[in-house]
Order: sequence, then C-alpha cells, then structure tokens
Amino acid sequence: MIDLLPIRTQRTPVSRLAELDPDNLEFGKVFSDHMFAMDYRDGEWQEAQIVPYGNMVVSPANSALHYGQAIFEGMKAYRLTDGGVALFRPLDNWARLNTSAERMCMPLVPEELFMQGLRELISLDAGWVPTAEGGALYIRPFMFATDGFIGVRPSDSYRFMIFTTPVGSYYTKPLRVRFEQKYVRSAEGGAGYAKNAGNYGAAMYPTKLAQQEGYNQLIWTDSTEHQYVEESGTMNAIFVIDGRVVTPALSTSILDGITRRSVLQLARDMGIEVEERKVSSREVIAALVAGKLEEAFGVGTAATIAPIATIGYQGQDYDLPVVGPTAFTKRVTAALNAIRTGAAPDLHNWMVRV
Ligand code: COI
Repeated sequence: MIDLLPIRTQRTPVSRLAELDPDNLEFGKVFSDHMFAMDYRDGEWQEAQIVPYGNMVVSPANSALHYGQAIFEGMKAYRLTDGGVALFRPLDNWARLNTSAERMCMPLVPEELFMQGLRELISLDAGWVPTAEGGALYIRPFMFATDGFIGVRPSDSYRFMIFTTPVGSYYTKPLRVRFEQKYVRSAEGGAGYAKNAGNYGAAMYPTKLAQQEGYNQLIWTDSTEHQYVEESGTMNAIFVIDGRVVTPALSTSILDGITRRSVLQLARDMGIEVEERKVSSREVIAALVAGKLEEAFGVGTAATIAPIATIGYQGQDYDLPVVGPTAFTKRVTAALNAIRTGAAPDLHNWMVRV
C-alpha cells in the first residue's frame, strides 16, 4: 500500500476565471488556474504540489525533447445536473497511462497518487467546469523525462503533471476525411497502442498534406497493405454497416480508446450487434456505394463523437447519407451525455464524483 503524498498547495493570488468567455471556448487555449506536479527521483514519486498554472524550468538536455520520452492522457470532468462535478472513467485513463509508461520505459504512477492529485486539482478548479450543454473540463495528465543527459537511454528522473482546460465542441461540422495509403500512423509492434507524444508529432505531416487537399483528417490504414482501417485522425474509427456497429479490432498499432470502449458498450446495451474485426477501405467504400454504410464517425475524448460526411478514396470523394434524428451517432451521443451529466443512471459505474 502506497502512502498518500501530502500535496503542498499554493493557490493563485488572483483567479483568471472571470476573464473566461464560456460561449467561446476554443479547444486547449485557456488553462485553469492551477496545475498538479510531482517528481520521480531516486526510485520514488515525491514533492507533489498544486501551483498556479504557468511556465516551468526543465533541462534543455531532457530525453522528452530529444528522444520523445513523453506520454499523455486526455480525460474529462463534467458538470452534473445537481451542480456537482464528476470525472468520466478516470481509472481507465490511469491504467492506460501506465500501459504507455511501460512501453516508453517510464515509471508507473500508483493509482492512489493519480487519483489524489486529480481530485484535489479538480476540486480546487471546480469553477472552471463549464455548465453549458456539450461543455466539459478537458484534463491533460502527462509525464516526461527530466534528466539533464543527452545519452540514449531511459531517464532516471521524470515529472508527472496534470493541467486542465475548459472546452466546448471540438469539431463543429461533420468531417471530410480520406483513406491514407502511403504514410502510416503506426506499424504492428510499434507504439501505436501507447499515448506517447511521438505518435502525434509524426502524424502531423501526412495530416497537413490531406488538409491542403481540403480534408479535415485522415483515416489511417495498416502499414503492410495500406488497406485495413486503423484510426481516424486522433480518434478511433467506427462504422454502422447494415445495422451493425463495426470497428477495427484493437492491436499493437491502435489506441485502446475509452470513448471507443464506452460507445461499443452502449451499442451492446441498445441491443445492436457489434463487430470488432478487420475493416478494409474497400469494404467501407463498397458498403457506401451499395447504400449499406449508414454512418461513419471518429470517437475520442476531445471530440467525443465526430460524424464523417465525406470519405476520399483513390482520388474520388464519396458522400455519406445525411443522418436523421434516430441515427446511432445521435442516440449514443445523447446516451453518453445523459450519463455524464447524471441525467440517466450510471449503470456501468463510469462516473466518479469529485
Ligand atoms: C483526445 O481525444 O484526448 C486526444 O487524444 C486528441 C488530442 C490529441 C486532442
């Protein structure tokens, strides 16, 4: 059993909350008043503190900057209908952080420390959790190497931090995406299942090329045949084909998304058949042409559910049918929102009140 750390808390002398425009929340631009930090040195976590959000001093020789020893999570806290605040599936994020840490030779964060830091930070900045429908406090836990050492080996020291940012909708319009058949996000046996910084940095160039062609995002395909769907942008990809919910099965190249997991569970709860298996670009386009692709969407913490309107494939754009009010994406978004705000019973115990 781990001894809980005393967290030294230094409150900001002046809150910036009054400057926040809750009607214009641009993703990830404004940060709440405080941040949590603790350091790993001599084989243990120490010096846990909550301090005003701000810049910090690190060695320019740290291995996060040079060799990518950096991992992160994305999670959210929601405003409940009774005015309280609850975290969505925080232990799933904690477990995945440690999966990423193991892959990147970084120390594990004990559950108690993760949860204590999170709870104390969110309680202190609870006023930053948006009240408007569709809003949430996006939470960014992350860890990076801190040794001042340029040799290529895992660092001995690390910093784990959490900061938060109030958010509204991530995407405001259905997406235009295209299958990527040259660049890959990750190969089998790579680090695609980990949430390490390098996965996101390496995805920027192919994404930029697609954006220059007028798409919002890519649908990544496998590294050997460039055929099988992996992910959609920074999200997992889900399709509704002929009444069934179909998504790529998890592998070492696909992130085990917590929104993905939740959407599949809710689909099963609704009595819809769910298939986790290989899905080829050819199958998706053939289903679309045959009128059997009812919906396609990305799922992730930041965007929650991002419907896809158009898919580019081999130089041609294919439009999906416009969805009605009973579409799966609409029903599952409403079901998730109701659980997250406490308006519907939390049958799977996903919410943790702060
Ligand atoms: C998330 O949905 O939390 C993500 O990982 C996307 C993020 C990089 C903005």
